[in-house]
Order: sequence, then structure tokens, then C-alpha cells
Amino acid sequence: MRPLRRVVALLLAAFSVVGSAAPSPARSEGIISRDDFPAGFVFGAGTSAYQWEGAAAEDGRTPSVWDTHARAHAHGGDDPVNGDVAADGYHKYKEDIKLMKETGLDAYRFSISWSRLIPRIQPHVTMFHYDLPQILEDEYDGWLSPQIIGDFTAYADVCFREFGDRVTNWTTLNEPNALVALGYDSGIGPPGRCSKPFGDCSRGNSVDEPYIVAHNCLLAHSSAVSLYKRKYQAKQKGLIGINLYIYNILPFTNSTEDIAATKRARAFYTGWFLDPLYHGDYPLLMKENTGSKLPIFSQNQSEQLINSVDFLGINYYKIIYVKDDPQNGPINKSDYVADMSAKAILASDSTTGFHVLGFGLQEELEYLKQSYGNPPICIHENGYPMHQHVVFDDGPRVEFLSTHLRSLVISLRNGSNTRGYFVWSLMDMYELLSLRNTYGLYYVDFADKDLKRYPRSSAIWYANFLKGRRDSGCTERFSDH
Ligand SMILES: *[C@@H]1O[C@H](CO)[C@@H](O)[C@H](O)[C@H]1NC(C)=O
Ligand SMILES: *[C@@H]1O[C@H](CO)[C@@H](O)[C@H](O)[C@H]1NC(C)=O
Ligand SMILES: *[C@@H]1O[C@H](CO)[C@@H](O)[C@H](O)[C@H]1NC(C)=O
Ligand SMILES: *[C@@H]1O[C@H](CO)[C@@H](O)[C@H](O)[C@H]1NC(C)=O
Ligand SMILES: *[C@@H]1O[C@H](CO)[C@@H](O)[C@H](O)[C@H]1NC(C)=O
Repeated sequence: MRPLRRVVALLLAAFSVVGSAAPSPARSEGIISRDDFPAGFVFGAGTSAYQWEGAAAEDGRTPSVWDTHARAHAHGGDDPVNGDVAADGYHKYKEDIKLMKETGLDAYRFSISWSRLIPRIQPHVTMFHYDLPQILEDEYDGWLSPQIIGDFTAYADVCFREFGDRVTNWTTLNEPNALVALGYDSGIGPPGRCSKPFGDCSRGNSVDEPYIVAHNCLLAHSSAVSLYKRKYQAKQKGLIGINLYIYNILPFTNSTEDIAATKRARAFYTGWFLDPLYHGDYPLLMKENTGSKLPIFSQNQSEQLINSVDFLGINYYKIIYVKDDPQNGPINKSDYVADMSAKAILASDSTTGFHVLGFGLQEELEYLKQSYGNPPICIHENGYPMHQHVVFDDGPRVEFLSTHLRSLVISLRNGSNTRGYFVWSLMDMYELLSLRNTYGLYYVDFADKDLKRYPRSSAIWYANFLKGRRDSGCTERFSDH
């Protein structure tokens, strides 16, 4: 057994001995508690391989495009500047599983490092979380080539075969809709491809690469799912889905133009993936604005895509407001943002760009319910960035999480088919875009060579919530009734 398999297998084995018996709390009218959620609703927290594991050169791991990108674009902060060591989860996983147990998590979301290949708390496992093996990028430009479909499927086959008997919930791809924007349009994320004036990269083409990459992501996803359904699911009894980055999108004004722009923005940001997954084709509003740049699905591909998800994973953080932004230039010179002809404005409290109001989540769940037949949903990420040096008192994070949980209760009572909720993130890690900001329930002392973890007030709040205690001082009035 290769070393990585050993670590993943040990992590999975360690889970199986962690129980999560939550005492059932007394009901108290007007205060949100775990009792407000349906039986079987799963609560967890998450990490991803590159951001958590470290051990970048150990046990035969080879570089991913994220290593290359992080080394070339060091933050210059005193947080981890790349994922070489990150939060050292590769060596500290046993300690971290104890934290999960102490926090009272039902589930842990993490990803497998494709380039390491090749870890009961329910394991919710992501196969691809931005870290494409660098060698595939070098050989054939990774996601830009249809060759990726076969290679991703082969990788998925290894994941299912080796770990599938212990994984309850698989996710093929994390945020492919953000991957196309960050990696291939603005170029600020790995693999850092783009063209002027949309970004400043040494190679790439923002005009059409995002569309090609999205197409290959969808086909690689549906091919891996089809394999799982054919060969593994009946025996292993897990569920499989995909994950998308989801904004709540609202019109900036109630003008006809802004309302139309909001529909286009929904089509371009998320309909791009959701429509193929649930209806078998790209949204009409996208086809109208992209001309021949948008690839076409064959009948077979379309059939393989429809209902290729047992559940939809969503990463929800923000509300954006959208204004009409008409573009008159040729389509073959515009990137996907220009094709969308809409300008997004972040709704934010001025310091963080994040909105502590939870109503966006409620509205978004309602939108998904109405537009895609009330699919089973798992909230894979929801969290609040703060300066990493905030060692303990992360009150705004507690407020953000609790307003979003209240919003979620309202959605559930109104029929949303949401099955689980994961805080991003379990602990501080290397973060791609947020510079010195991290999301951890647990503070990690990156200056300590042992990278010691300490619970923040949010970890204590979440643990008390999960264990049904009311003594955290953070329980809130529940305004729904
Ligand atoms: C995870 O999978 C199990 C079956 O393996 C299922 O019962 C549960 O609803 C799934 N959870 C989510 C959030 O999809
Ligand atoms: C648009 O109309 C809705 C419903 O009438 C209202 O709730 C909302 O505040 C209006 N938005 C703006 C920006 O005026
Ligand atoms: C389409 O699917 C059918 C049956 O599922 C198969 O026989 C056929 O070869 C496929 N065609 C292509 C072009 O993949
Ligand atoms: C862009 O499209 C215009 C017409 O729509 C066409 O004349 C021009 O040749 C195209 N340019 C390229 C580089 O394809
Ligand atoms: C509750 O669900 C119904 C049906 O989907 C919808 O019409 C209504 O707006 C929802 N209410 C809230 C508060 O989301």
C-alpha cells in the first residue's frame, strides 16, 4: 500500500471509532437549537487537502497546479504562504480528529490529494479541490483538454475502489464554476491562465477557455458518476454529487434592465452548471450571449448529465447585487463576464465584504428549490473570514454562522430538501484568496513549530450548539415565530 493510501485509510479508520451521540436538548421556544433541525440532519466542518495537509514533498506526493501557483504568488504574509506545510494535517490528523470529536461534529468534509496518490464521523470526500496534478497541466493543459475526462474517471475509479466502502458521500468537483473564473478568466487562481485585458497571465485565453474548461468539467463529472453508478454504488451504498459556489443574486434596482441582468447573472454564474446537471443543456440565456463559443453536448452526453447528482453541494457565503452592463463589442473578444452583460456589486459590511445577514441563504435555497425541482442539497461551506491573528474572540464569525443557521431552519420548515451543513473551516489553513484572513473554528499558531490548535469562541459556540447546550451565551432569539 502506498503511503498516501495508508494515511487516507488510517484517517477513515480513525473516523469509525468516533461516536457523535448528541444529547437531546430541552425545547425552548424562541431560541434556535439543534432540535429545530430534522432528525438525521448532518452537521460538520470542512478542510481541503492542499490547504490542510502540508507534507508537500513527502511519501511520493508530486506537485499540483496549486503548489505551482502558490509558490509563484506568495502572499507575503505571516500566515502560511503556501501549502508546503499548511496546517500539517498530514501529520496531525489524529489530533484533529480528536478536535472534531470534542466539537461534536457528525461529519467531516475533506478532499483527497490527486497528486499524492493516491481518511466514523461520516466522511464526505471531495475528489478534486483545485489541486490538479501539475504533470497533467504540463502534458496536455489539464482541464482544457478532453483527455482530462478519461484521466479524472481513472482517478475516480481508484478513489471508489480503495475508499468507497467507507465513504458515505462523494463529491466529484469542488466549485468548478469558480475554477473557470479564477483559473481561466481572471487567472488569479491555479492554473493561472488568462488573456488581456481580463487578467495578466503568461498564457491563456479568457475569451473561450472558461467555456471549454466548464464543458470538460461537466463531462468528467458525469463520466465519473456514471462509473460509480455502474460499478460501485449498489455495493458501497454511498451518494455522489458535485459542488458549486453559489451567490444569492439580487437586482441592484427594480428596473426591468437590472431584473433581466439578474437572470443572466444566475444563468452565467450557476445555471451554466446546474442546467446541464438537471436539464441536460446550457441555459438559453447563455447560448444567446455566447454565440459559437459555447460547446455543444451530444445527445449521449446530455443524457449522461441529467440527474448525474444524488445531491448538490453548495458553498454559500455572499449576496451580490447585479446591474445591467450592456456590451456592444464582438462576442469573440469578450470574456464570460462581458458575455453576461451584467455587473456584480458585493453586498457587504464594509470591512470584510461579507454579509452577516442570513436571508441570502434562505432566498437562495428557495430559488434552488423552485428552479431545480427541490434537489437534495448539502451546504458544504459556509463561514466567515477574519484576521488570522484573532486568537479567540471571533464574535462576528459566531454571529455570521448563527444567522445563517436560523435562515436554514426557516428554509427547512418551508420544505427545502437540505440534508447537511458544514462550517468552512474546521481550523485555520493556507487560504487561496483571503490573504491574512482565515476561517477556522480553531486557531492554528503558525509561528509554533508544532502548529498547535486552540479553540476560538466559534468552536465553543458550535460545540455547544451541536451538543444541545444553551450556556454558550451565543444562542439567539429566533425571529421566525
Ligand atoms: C450522505 O449519504 C448518506 C447515504 O450514504 C445519505 O443518507 C445522506 O442523506 C447523505 N447526506 C447528504 C448531506 O447528502
Ligand atoms: C424591489 O422590489 C421588491 C419587492 O417589491 C422589494 O422588496 C425590494 O426592496 C425592491 N428593491 C429595490 C432595490 O428597490
Ligand atoms: C450513445 O449511446 C448509445 C447507447 O447508450 C451507444 O450505443 C452509442 O455508441 C453512443 N454514441 C456515442 C457517439 O457515444
Ligand atoms: C470575430 O467576429 C467577427 C464577426 O462577428 C469576425 O469578423 C472576426 O473575424 C472574428 N474574429 C476572430 C478573431 O475570430
Ligand atoms: C415557501 O415556499 C413556497 C413554495 O416554494 C414559496 O412560494 C414561498 O415564497 C416560500 N416562503 C419563503 C419565506 O421562502
